[in-house]
Amino acid sequence: MDAHGADDEIRVEGLDPPIETPRLRGKVIARASMHDLLDELSSDLTAHALNCVREFGDFHLALSGGQTPMPFYEQLMYDPRYRAIPWRRTHLWMVDERCVGFEDERSNFGRIKEVIVDHSDIPPEQVHPMIAMAPGAGERYERELRETLGWRQKGHDRLDFVLLGVGPDGHTASIFPGSPALDAGERLAMDVPAPSTCTPHVPRCTLTMRTINAARFVAPLVTGAAKHAVLARVAAGASPQELPVAGVRPAAGELRWYLDHAAAGAKSG
Ligand code: 6PG
Repeated sequence: MDAHGADDEIRVEGLDPPIETPRLRGKVIARASMHDLLDELSSDLTAHALNCVREFGDFHLALSGGQTPMPFYEQLMYDPRYRAIPWRRTHLWMVDERCVGFEDERSNFGRIKEVIVDHSDIPPEQVHPMIAMAPGAGERYERELRETLGWRQKGHDRLDFVLLGVGPDGHTASIFPGSPALDAGERLAMDVPAPSTCTPHVPRCTLTMRTINAARFVAPLVTGAAKHAVLARVAAGASPQELPVAGVRPAAGELRWYLDHAAAGAKSG
């Protein structure tokens, strides 16, 4: 049992010498090399996508923006080992978006489009950008989610794989400390303001914590020493109001953290 009363398996591999990593809810995959970490994540995503296509005929993938996942997205596209990803059967969703146009370099979708959408054979109707600039973006995205996932059998109408990042203030997606998206009832996506500390400081549209926690597989990818302190506070029992990523607790799905050496707590040098 950990500090949260959860007894989920803790799996830490590949660190030599072994270090004590934060005891997070779910499984922890920690790798000394970034290359190995991204390989692990890419293989897990590929296997999960193939299983979903086998089981449901399609795969619903939601991706985050920010800097951290970009090398991962590039690897998925150029490494021949991941050619098996069934892009033609994939629906690509956004975890969150900044209130800027897609051609703006701060746009999450803009960057994901350049790296993934433009180089895969995902049918255009299966690509679901968040149009955060449009009034009512959250409601519109929520409708699109309900309508698209509604084709699936009841109970299977949820996202299959959600890739998350973590900010230095403990935010995940665009769910900032004290955010209404932490506890938004039945809402699946919503427009939210951005706190002044957030970069870039523009309003956002985000999936709510409810949508994230309904997913079949949730994968926070966290790298760099600056994020270790946040993870340590989450492991020590910080509240989701304080550190929103502490609210990531899939109800009937798997939570698997992917940490590099520094985020896991290894001292450099
Ligand atoms: C965004 C993200 C956000 C991100 C974290 C971490 O639009 O900013 O989706 O939730 O994952 O801020 O960002 P970095 O990976 O750039 O540190």
